[in-house]
Amino acid sequence: MESVLPRYGDRYGINNFLSMKRDPLEFLVSAHGQCGESVSMKCGPYRLVSISKPHHIRHVLKDRSEIYTKKTAGYKGMVGYLGNGLLTNPGGSEWRANSKLLRPLFWPKRIDNTDGIITYWVREYRKEISASALNNEPINFTSLFRRLTLSILCDIMFGLTEKTAINSISSDIDTCIHVAFAKLYDPFYWVKLSNISLEKRFQEARKRLREFSLVLLEHVPVKHAGTELGAYMQSILKGSGRSRTQCRDEVVTFLQAGHETSSTALNAIFYRVFSDRSLQVSLQQSIDQLPASKRYSLDNVDLVNQCIWESFRFDPSTWAFDRYAAQDDIICGEIPVEKGSFVVISPYVSHRLFSGFSDQENFNPQANFQYVGDLDRSEYIPFSVGPRICPGATMAHKEIRETLIGMLDGFDYVDANTDELRFKPSITLKLSGDLTCRPVIREASKKKNAITTKAVII
Ligand code: HEM
Repeated sequence: MESVLPRYGDRYGINNFLSMKRDPLEFLVSAHGQCGESVSMKCGPYRLVSISKPHHIRHVLKDRSEIYTKKTAGYKGMVGYLGNGLLTNPGGSEWRANSKLLRPLFWPKRIDNTDGIITYWVREYRKEISASALNNEPINFTSLFRRLTLSILCDIMFGLTEKTAINSISSDIDTCIHVAFAKLYDPFYWVKLSNISLEKRFQEARKRLREFSLVLLEHVPVKHAGTELGAYMQSILKGSGRSRTQCRDEVVTFLQAGHETSSTALNAIFYRVFSDRSLQVSLQQSIDQLPASKRYSLDNVDLVNQCIWESFRFDPSTWAFDRYAAQDDIICGEIPVEKGSFVVISPYVSHRLFSGFSDQENFNPQANFQYVGDLDRSEYIPFSVGPRICPGATMAHKEIRETLIGMLDGFDYVDANTDELRFKPSITLKLSGDLTCRPVIREASKKKNAITTKAVII
């Protein structure tokens, strides 16, 4: 039965608009806190309908996805930086053709072959942690995760293994995302004098990123045993009859969508681990006891996976996304939506306020993920649901699991700066500053090493 939605904020949407521009996440949380699970609000020129119940989410993202497109202000804003790749395409036949072409890249049989590549890169970056531990120095994890996720992505998807080229582009991606967000949420972006130099930096960073994407398309991919994804990606893009610009946009999209979200997710989970000493110790014990056969298992209910699932739930990288209603609709016969409205879906809000998790308001991996088999897919949406679900979810989970295992095995972490940081919304849900911590070689592994060395000497 159709119901009248509670309305939030001022009638003409001016205050709403300004509050949303100031802090979009706080604005959403407060709207739902006041009005409940679904809320309608005027926000500047737009009518927003924010929903959080699983069956409503399923209706919009899956059952009636053809009428809810990505023709929203947010996605249009990102076209200026990403171009017309899979992520920003509004929908319809062009998106379907692109999706059909690119999604097979992520089929399990291909992604399962990438474990060795991920382990290789985690070991490679672990060397920086060993060096810091030996020199008794803190390490900047935000920078390390940015480079690590980009290295994994460039290797798996494009067969590029050259660390210098990869590192040089990482800060350009960061600049582009920072400015894309500012343009989206700062109504005065174009009139602030201080933004002249920022805009110039953005243009330069975008140019380098586009050039780098063309390099990725043209270089000869390194082939690893068991995986030839890099060559495959090049051949399907170049053999698809698409223009160079279209191919370039797809590459830029994968670089951004695949790297930014994963490195943000790594920051989030390590933030929780560094903030809670007992969680760190329990994770180390769990990793010590993990049988080799389960190392890469993404569905095993062990503490490593529980922490990852919980981090995706509680601190979701993609904290909100939206859809444009291309025609009038009534969601599940309950929520009227006028043509032209934007429907907002926030994993952050629905995971915390309106889901059925046993301890939904707290970060509690073991309570919230005792088993995962019966999880309602529209209740837990860190990667969205429906035809536009994230194609990189398995790859992201794999790299986060391997990084947790690789970085916690053998090291303790002390003096983290977690007290100075908080989560704040950008295009993704980021920490307010770089996450730093001092690694210390674990006593247990010193002993393990000593025993091994002794055995060798004998
Ligand atoms: C923790 C890591 C990640 C998170 C939280 C995440 C989250 C998401 C979400 C929520 C969407 C849907 C957005 C919407 O429907 O409006 C999405 C789409 C997408 N993601 Fe991810 N993602 C992650 C990693 C990756 C990786 C590793 C890749 C590629 C290598 C990737 C590539 C994409 C692409 C291309 C789309 C657009 C799909 C389409 O619209 O058809 N993502 N992601």
